[in-house]
Amino acid sequence: MPETMTARAPQMPAFDYQPRPYTGPGREEVLAARRQYTNPAVFTLYREPLMIVEGRMQYLFDETGRRYLDLFAGIVTVSCGHCHPKVTARMREQLETLQHATTIYLHPNMARLAEQLASKMPPGLDVTYFVNSGSEANDLAVTLARLYTGNTDVIAVRNGYHGGSPSSMGLTSHHTWKLPVLQGPYVHHALCPEPYRSGLGGSPEEIATAGAADIAELIRYSTPGRIAGFIAEPIQGVGGVTSAAPNYFREAYRIVREHGGLCIADEVQTGFGRTGEHYWGFQNFDVVPDIVTMAKGFGNGAPLAAVTTRREIAEVLAQRLHFNTFGGNPVSTAAGLAVMDVIEEEGLQRNAKVIGRRLKDGLERLAAVHPIVGDVRGMGLMLGVELVTDRQAGTPASAETLEVLEAAREMGVLLGKGGLAGNVLRIKPPMCITADDVDFALDVLDRAFARVEA
Ligand SMILES: Cc1ncc(COP(=O)(O)O)c(C=O)c1O
Repeated sequence: MPETMTARAPQMPAFDYQPRPYTGPGREEVLAARRQYTNPAVFTLYREPLMIVEGRMQYLFDETGRRYLDLFAGIVTVSCGHCHPKVTARMREQLETLQHATTIYLHPNMARLAEQLASKMPPGLDVTYFVNSGSEANDLAVTLARLYTGNTDVIAVRNGYHGGSPSSMGLTSHHTWKLPVLQGPYVHHALCPEPYRSGLGGSPEEIATAGAADIAELIRYSTPGRIAGFIAEPIQGVGGVTSAAPNYFREAYRIVREHGGLCIADEVQTGFGRTGEHYWGFQNFDVVPDIVTMAKGFGNGAPLAAVTTRREIAEVLAQRLHFNTFGGNPVSTAAGLAVMDVIEEEGLQRNAKVIGRRLKDGLERLAAVHPIVGDVRGMGLMLGVELVTDRQAGTPASAETLEVLEAAREMGVLLGKGGLAGNVLRIKPPMCITADDVDFALDVLDRAFARVEA
């Protein structure tokens, strides 16, 4: 058992920052207005919805000034830290200079950011189109693949999440996120090659090979034999931090290319150093995609997303007028430039690797003593803990997962939840998190698991 897990109450690491006194409307008033005036589909996480009014680096503050350690980063979006001073300063400066003019005029930010992205990509992936959200980026990636190849069918992977726009909803593969409406057509979902829940059997490498072979079968049985592309997250995020053995992407990309398709890496969660070892998630699997989509952590909270590809692929969009009002917006691109600088200057990718390792080791120690933990997985600061009521049967502990979330919140730690059955803790904090934060979080999780096991 980790030595931090003594009987004393878990102590959050000290943090030299005083939140501003909150003077806005109370939680009940906000909740009532939200219930009355906002779409009921906009859900909140906790039994008693939490109101967050301030954030600083890896911490969030509620309206009473209570501090929480944020292990979910606004759903994997706050990469550098909440209100990171450098990112905020660059955005503020831009906001006070020029907020918006559109791409019909030149502005240095968009051009510089596209150049910065090219410097981080494998050679050839050096043309970027800016949009505002991950869904939009994936919509555009599929459009590019269809236009470039002249084919229509797209293969996505079961258990993947690629967005909620009508088109990207078709790529998404969870009934829980799909509405019964017409959505992205000509999409086929290949078997999910992650080993924990795979029904495929065999070693992780054999499961990966079977998963890739299923792409070939889908192409044979469900398409004209030629496809536009294949889209996949290097590590599935919403799906519960699931990934395949390293041979999967190599084999999948080969099959896709043999059938005329382009390979699209959805880096919306895995990009910008989060997986620790590499800047992009796909680099962990030794493949080079044809199109890369990104969002979330790119803007540290600013609405910024992009599609990077090769010039000849990008050029297909120029056959018609194409425009995106806010894509490449000066303030969002100022955020992107600052984010990329901060990741370098503050060694955040390395921190994701080192601190992520410490966290994963600690979670594995907890798995050894808590039967509710079925699996610990992920890389860097993209980690998942699958909770089960029966390890042998792998029965999802969906209700217990909610209880763990509630217990952790009570002790000051905010976690995410994912997986088709909602039984995976998603741990993806701002990448500035420290070793002390990790030890505190492990202490809290130890107690939360014990509480639901009791
Ligand atoms: C991997 C992935 N792709 C795409 C999206 C969609 O992004 P957005 O919500 O910005 O449209 C998400 C959102 O969670 C995501 O996790």
